[in-house]
Amino acid sequence: MATDTPAPSPPSESTQTPGRLEQSNPDYDPNVVIEAQNLTKIYRDFWGRQKVRALNALDLEVRKGEIFGLLGPNGSGKSTTIKLMLGLLFPTSGRAIVLGQNATDVAKNERIGYLPEESYLYKFLNAEETLDFYGRLFDIPAKVRKERVQELIQLVGLEKAKRRQLREYSKGMTRRIGLAQALINDPELILLDEPTSGLDPLGTRDMKDMILKLRDQGKTVVMCSHLLADVEDVCDRIAILFQGDLKEMGRVDSLLKVSGETQITAENIPESAHEEIRQLIAKHGGQNVVVDNPRTTLEDLFLNIVRESEDRPGMRPAGAAAEKKPSSDQTH
Ligand SMILES: Nc1ncnc2c1ncn2[C@@H]1O[C@H](COP(=O)(O)OP(=O)(O)O)[C@@H](O)[C@H]1O
Ligand SMILES: [Mg+2]
Repeated sequence: MATDTPAPSPPSESTQTPGRLEQSNPDYDPNVVIEAQNLTKIYRDFWGRQKVRALNALDLEVRKGEIFGLLGPNGSGKSTTIKLMLGLLFPTSGRAIVLGQNATDVAKNERIGYLPEESYLYKFLNAEETLDFYGRLFDIPAKVRKERVQELIQLVGLEKAKRRQLREYSKGMTRRIGLAQALINDPELILLDEPTSGLDPLGTRDMKDMILKLRDQGKTVVMCSHLLADVEDVCDRIAILFQGDLKEMGRVDSLLKVSGETQITAENIPESAHEEIRQLIAKHGGQNVVVDNPRTTLEDLFLNIVRESEDRPGMRPAGAAAEKKPSSDQTH
């Protein structure tokens, strides 16, 4: 039997001073919301024998106001990392400082919002009752609670369903109420474990927009996902994990930048000018020139079709998208 709790012999970190305020530390930087140092988690079995090295000597820093993505295939240690940040698990070695406090100090979780991989909410409560319940757990005064419940229901787009019991909710609606629940305490730091799991493209887009909105409000977001497009679209920086090891970390735009190629995009260039452009580039030593229309993403195409259909219900001629955007030409 596997267990999440520390092995029978107490781990070394429990002898440290958990919850020690780092503000007294001269190195403390309030702009660093999470700092993991050599963070390692080995799951043990019931008898304390080592079973799985889920996270191996992770070093990372999450800075205030950014959206940080943990990317990796199933089993790479993403959920383990998030649970270590919350103090739901004890590290086998290393440590994490979260909001200036040791991650094992659960008192700091009052300032954190957490959307677990699977939300366990009471199925017989409706959205308003659910959020009110969690607001009470955080001792939010009745008046503030009432306002916040309505604000959050609006933020996650559940106004029409707010009086329906959660057992009637679709997967997408369940994810929305899960996010609202994670935000009830107006947290500074939000940890989202696979926020788009099980959502259709519309739900996914909405979730991503909500995450971006949270950043605009000054929150720090850490999300983990195995879905490349989700992470690419919303994260400022990412860490790529594989089998518990950190493989890559950096800004998404610089990690994805193809060095050695130049992209020039322009609208309304006639076909007749393409050859001239090609020759000009060749004159400057450019090689393997491609003059072409840029491609949109399948997500954008799909969302355009759905939104158009909402405005104008009925059949849409096939290939209509090809006559519309993108109208610009692109030079690689
Ligand atoms: N409670 C547990 N007991 C034993 N092994 C676990 C436990 N939770 C996760 N693991 C193992 O740790 C590894 C990392 O898991 P996890 O952090 O859930 O990965 P991810 O979230 O990236 O899919 C996997 O091999 C998984 O099987
Ligand atoms: Mg996981």
